[in-house]
Amino acid sequence: MKASLPSEWKGYVPDCYYHFDEEGFDKDSKGRLTGWRSFRYYPFLGTFWPTNGSTDDVLIRLGSAFKQNRRGETDMDVYKLNFSIVEALVKQKEIAINPVDEHIYDVDLNHNGLLDEAAFISKDIESYVGKAKEVLRRGEIHLAKGLFPEQTEFLHSVRYIDWDSEKGHIGMSKRMKELRYAKKTKWLTYSQIQRVASAELWETQMNETTQGVMATFRGNYEEGLRNDLGWVYQGFIEDKKGALRPQTHEETIACMGCHAHLGATTDSTFSFARKFEGIDKNQKMYGWNHWSQKGLKNIPEPKAAYINRGENYEYSFYLQNNHSGNEFRDNSEVQEKFFTPEGSLKTEMLDTLHQDISVLLFPSRRRALDLNKGYKAMVEEQSYIYGRDANVKPRQHIYKEIEEAKTTQIDETVVQQ
Ligand code: HEC
Repeated sequence: MKASLPSEWKGYVPDCYYHFDEEGFDKDSKGRLTGWRSFRYYPFLGTFWPTNGSTDDVLIRLGSAFKQNRRGETDMDVYKLNFSIVEALVKQKEIAINPVDEHIYDVDLNHNGLLDEAAFISKDIESYVGKAKEVLRRGEIHLAKGLFPEQTEFLHSVRYIDWDSEKGHIGMSKRMKELRYAKKTKWLTYSQIQRVASAELWETQMNETTQGVMATFRGNYEEGLRNDLGWVYQGFIEDKKGALRPQTHEETIACMGCHAHLGATTDSTFSFARKFEGIDKNQKMYGWNHWSQKGLKNIPEPKAAYINRGENYEYSFYLQNNHSGNEFRDNSEVQEKFFTPEGSLKTEMLDTLHQDISVLLFPSRRRALDLNKGYKAMVEEQSYIYGRDANVKPRQHIYKEIEEAKTTQIDETVVQQ
């Protein structure tokens, strides 16, 4: 991949080896750390469930100061602690850690007003550790609840669906459909973010006499496109022969449909706020692993809080309200498995789903093969600008046309907290 990019390529050059140790750290062919760390998470609703077309994984990397101690040496204890600090900040909740002596870092990790032994990172933490602490004090990077620090990077590989005949269920294919990348290049304060959100609200005030504003995204296909929250997005996709190539400007704009102007994200990202937790590496729910190390089988269903609806099982709630397993309402396998012919949910299937999300997320072997085949036709046509979701059958007319500046007439909004 690296070799096929022009030598003066200004954008992201793939530098991950997908070779992970037991704590999710990626290593190159000589055993050196690349800084990338893999994590497992509850797949976001709909599109990224394997039954809807692809398997995938997400990796995170923090800026170089986050993996150095005060003397500027690489220190994995510092790097791991900084990951937990970022997790506590982004999720705005306490994150358990293996107990550490706070004197080593001179930071009150558990926020109890003392330097003592800490077994968790408080959501009110006020500093990173190691070199990042000094860089923060100098004002070169920032820290705030709900936000990632500058220079945070994410890598998202989207892959075909493999069949694991030993285990009797699908798995992650080695073959990638896409490699997607994001980096936070700019810090925005809460009031700046508020201003971006207010501009967005303008759209909801639209009527016959006002006009909506067309979204524009600055940047180019080489350096990526920027959203209004300080992140840049870029991707690679299969060419006709199956080798990854940079996505065109037009293809990259598709990224912004989900990574900008959307309320379901956390600082423009989806997966990290949904990361599994725990400190015991041998536990199934330990989050710092790659899917190839510990899979999606026997993962219990997550719960989420909904305004006016209280806490609900998240995937069941989605099925209940969406009446289908995907956005296009054409996943017939999920339809038959989870719904009666009259369209009611089968309660016994929901009971199974609460124990193991793979009953919903994993397609059968037949469906997996059909999805792979459907997508390959798209690769041959290079027709990604018309949509990238793998189809088993041609799609019927899905959306009713809505006249510009008219409402959808859907008046109930269920907003996830
Ligand atoms: C249909 C909506 C959608 C589109 C379009 C989309 N993404 Fe995402 N992206 C997601 C979701 C959802 C996740 C979380 C994946 C999961 O749950 O398995 C994600 C994850 C990511 C991540 C990992 C960090 C995170 O947000 O969790 C990166 C990086 C990323 N996408 C980049 C891109 C790029 C680059 C493009 C364009 C080539 C793109 N995405 C297009 C929805 C989308």
